[in-house]
Amino acid sequence: MKRFLVAIDGPAGAGKSTVARQVAERLGLTYVDTGAMYRALAWKALRDGVDMEDEEAVAHLAESITFTLEPNGIRVNGIPLKDEIRTPQVSELASAVATMPKVRKILVNKQQEIAASQSVVMDGRDIGTHVLPNADVKIFLTASIDERARRRYKELTAKGIPADLEALQEQIRRRDENDRNRAYAPLRQAEDAILVDTTNQSVQEVIEVILQHCRNKLGGEE
Ligand code: CDP
Ligand code: CDP
Repeated sequence: MKRFLVAIDGPAGAGKSTVARQVAERLGLTYVDTGAMYRALAWKALRDGVDMEDEEAVAHLAESITFTLEPNGIRVNGIPLKDEIRTPQVSELASAVATMPKVRKILVNKQQEIAASQSVVMDGRDIGTHVLPNADVKIFLTASIDERARRRYKELTAKGIPADLEALQEQIRRRDENDRNRAYAPLRQAEDAILVDTTNQSVQEVIEVILQHCRNKLGGEE
């Protein structure tokens, strides 16, 4: 069977990983969380004491790492990473290393290699525009900043982690700005992407909308 590629992009907290994971499961495709790769790289650089302002050093580290993407997480050189890559510090650092063209080229290569041999649902910021420009279905997920910050707040407090809603709004605003304004491969909606505003939609509703677009495409190719 021909590979089927689904690209899901959008800003932080839009619901990309939550819906992409479940869409992949429902369609029997591999889920690829590219944000986890930028996060895992930032985490490893922090742990190894790599200077995060030194693009060459971070790119060298990115090249030498083995990333293993699994349905519920990522491994770096075999080590499974979970909550340690979701801290505010790692989020900020991931967003900073993601502005470096040399680093992006290396991670994009690895992402394209994964999609070269199998059908995937891949989520990130530049999947529809850059990583998989020929994806069969491209979705651009958004939601208001207030709603995205509320979602993060709920996630953290549900885990018993104290959170400050205003600080979360500020952090999301800063990361949005970084992601949208970087010179190389910024976050933007691909011309042929379908815009889905999830502000007032449940996770299940969003999943159904995306599945319907995928089925239409699959049906059209039979
Ligand atoms: O989950 P959240 O949306 O907060 O972030 P993420 O998807 O885990 O991505 C973490 C950071 O990596 C983002 O702030 C982006 O700066 C960067 N990223 C990127 O530049 N390109 C991608 N394809 C995926 C993530
Ligand atoms: O990957 P991204 O940063 O875009 O978002 P996420 O990590 O999937 O987090 C989104 C959070 O908002 C999760 O806790 C979801 O349960 C919740 N949520 C959602 O994803 N989509 C909705 N339509 C409503 C809530």
